[in-house]
Amino acid sequence: TQIDATLIPGDGIGPEITEAVTAILDHMGSPFKWDVQQAGMAGIDAAGEPLPQATLDSIRRTKLALKGPLTTPVGGGFKSINLQLRQAFNLYANVRPTKTIKLDGRFDNVDMVIFRENLEGYYISDEGYIEHNGDPKGKVFSTGYNTKEGAQRITRAAFDYAVANGRKKVSIVHKANILKLLSGMFLEEARKIAKEYEGKVEWDERIVDACAMQMVMYPEAFDVIVTTNLFGDILSDLAAGLVGGLGLAPGANIGKDAAIFEAVHGSAPDIAGQQKANPCAFLMAAGLMLEHVGKTEDAQRLKKAVIDTVQTKDRVTPDLGGTGNTMSIAEAIMDRL
Ligand code: NAI
Ligand code: MG
Repeated sequence: TQIDATLIPGDGIGPEITEAVTAILDHMGSPFKWDVQQAGMAGIDAAGEPLPQATLDSIRRTKLALKGPLTTPVGGGFKSINLQLRQAFNLYANVRPTKTIKLDGRFDNVDMVIFRENLEGYYISDEGYIEHNGDPKGKVFSTGYNTKEGAQRITRAAFDYAVANGRKKVSIVHKANILKLLSGMFLEEARKIAKEYEGKVEWDERIVDACAMQMVMYPEAFDVIVTTNLFGDILSDLAAGLVGGLGLAPGANIGKDAAIFEAVHGSAPDIAGQQKANPCAFLMAAGLMLEHVGKTEDAQRLKKAVIDTVQTKDRVTPDLGGTGNTMSIAEAIMDRL
């Protein structure tokens, strides 16, 4: 049976990696029936706006999307489309698995999953100007909000994931020693949820700055991490760096109303249109999407083909140390499938 899903190719390298990924998914007989929609600069070209109504309607119908990278124009009053999508569909959990793949990465046994709260905290761009020294724009402020409900649901998502996937430990990451209300409440609510899982999963607490250092020194010690928006943004890119960069890193934005899967990297305008882009991160995002709809075996098969291709450097792209291109690495993966 087929599963309706929205496909947004996106900007820059988006269309190239989308072509590679859909070819691979077709080749392996994936269940997805795509409704192709536009967003970002491609949305402006197609419908005169970066997030066309047709795209929103499609996701509302399918509740499932694979989204290419979107270019957010700097300035011009554009609100990030990714932020708009998160808010429109209440995608409260940003889930980023990080696992060692490349043999020549710095660490061999990294295997962590970061649950980042996606709708609250210091990230919501509630900002403004204040007069200072006679300059009406001499001072700026930015506000963050956390809610008990928000802290509880992201923590519950992390613990449920840990139980379902046989993970050993959840680390709650915070800065409650300084941000006594904003981070303090998050920690307090997260502790309450953690106690509900007593006997099922272990848990600990870490202060974010020390956590960053520990992640660099002993990344093998981390399993599942749950944290607020900005900390999760930073720590998840740090985690990607531990295993060889963004070329292989997927992410999922999950909520009650929909789930949107994407690569962590952006539209890479510097290499767009040159067939140099590595499609693996976007492909791994499709793998997370297969897992999400319960196609665990297909997801495993896909992951295995990607890992083997990358480790043997078979027809891989320049970022992976090869001389291949977007389609040649796709063919190498298809041969293994
Ligand atoms: P970027 O991730 O697009 O590029 C950073 C560097 O990594 C570049 O040198 C690029 O060539 C390389 N790179 C990225 N993806 C690659 C791939 N698949 N294969 C090989 N090399 C790859 O980040 P940057 O330059 O900061 O942002 C460019 C645009 O992308 C901006 O407009 C930004 O707003 C947007 N962006 C969108 C995201 C999304 O839609 N989820 C996430 C991050 C950035
Ligand atoms: Mg980020």
